[in-house]
Amino acid sequence: MDSRTVFVLLWMLLSSTSTGIKLDGNGYVDVVIAISSRVPQDNRLIDKIKEMVTEGSFYLYDALDEKVYFREATILVPAQMLLRPILCEMQAKIRIDNANPAYGVEPYTNQYGECGAEGEYIHFTPEYLLNDTLIELYGSRGRVFVHEWAHMRWGVYDECNGEKPFYHSNGHIEATRCSKNIEGQFYEVTAGGSLQQCRIDPQTSLPTKGCIFFLDRNQITNSSIMFFPGLDAVSIDCTHIYT
Ligand SMILES: *[C@@H]1O[C@H](CO)[C@@H](O)[C@H](O)[C@H]1NC(C)=O
Ligand SMILES: *[C@@H]1O[C@H](CO)[C@@H](O)[C@H](O)[C@H]1NC(C)=O
Repeated sequence: MDSRTVFVLLWMLLSSTSTGIKLDGNGYVDVVIAISSRVPQDNRLIDKIKEMVTEGSFYLYDALDEKVYFREATILVPAQMLLRPILCEMQAKIRIDNANPAYGVEPYTNQYGECGAEGEYIHFTPEYLLNDTLIELYGSRGRVFVHEWAHMRWGVYDECNGEKPFYHSNGHIEATRCSKNIEGQFYEVTAGGSLQQCRIDPQTSLPTKGCIFFLDRNQITNSSIMFFPGLDAVSIDCTHIYT
């Protein structure tokens, strides 16, 4: 199967109809990446964004057992002189904007909701995308993109480790979650954004802090946009969909 990403380049004016990220079969579509009109124009940015998402797509596809990839991404380029752009920027789930003083060049995801709730947006600075020295610090951009994606799309917290994220049941390790019918796999997302097998704490025989439960594709497919927000109603009774 062809899991390459197709890019669409749009000027803000043309694109006010985006309805949000969807999963179409195995591929995420309507992934909108907006370059803020505050960012000084630099033609290298678009190529860097394409590289990051393309690499992230292969990575996500491999890491999640060929379950999902980024099929189509739209890059919104600021149309200087227009009054409309701000509106579109606000809708984009991935934003390229000047540094927020609290984070500097470090990529971050605004996620105000509970663990498991979809985040607001991922923020990358132009410096982060353009300065290759930072790859040594943060890991490859594709992997970092997937790491942030996990925060934004799946509401996975770095610090979302409740009192009891995992427990034993009939000799299996189970993630504390709202419905045990939710199928998935455990991975640990490293600081560099790569997924690896969870480690087991010898004292408790349970996964260590940082182990995350990822939902299976079928459930992602069936709930697509509603993915996590859809589970919100249930999550009131259970603190951890995953950790
Ligand atoms: C790139 O990042 C490194 C590490 O933070 C920094 O020392 C260097 O000055 C940056 N280069 C540019 C061109 O900004
Ligand atoms: C998704 O939901 C529909 C309708 O509820 C159901 O018929 C279908 O079998 C589900 N698909 C998967 C993959 O679970």
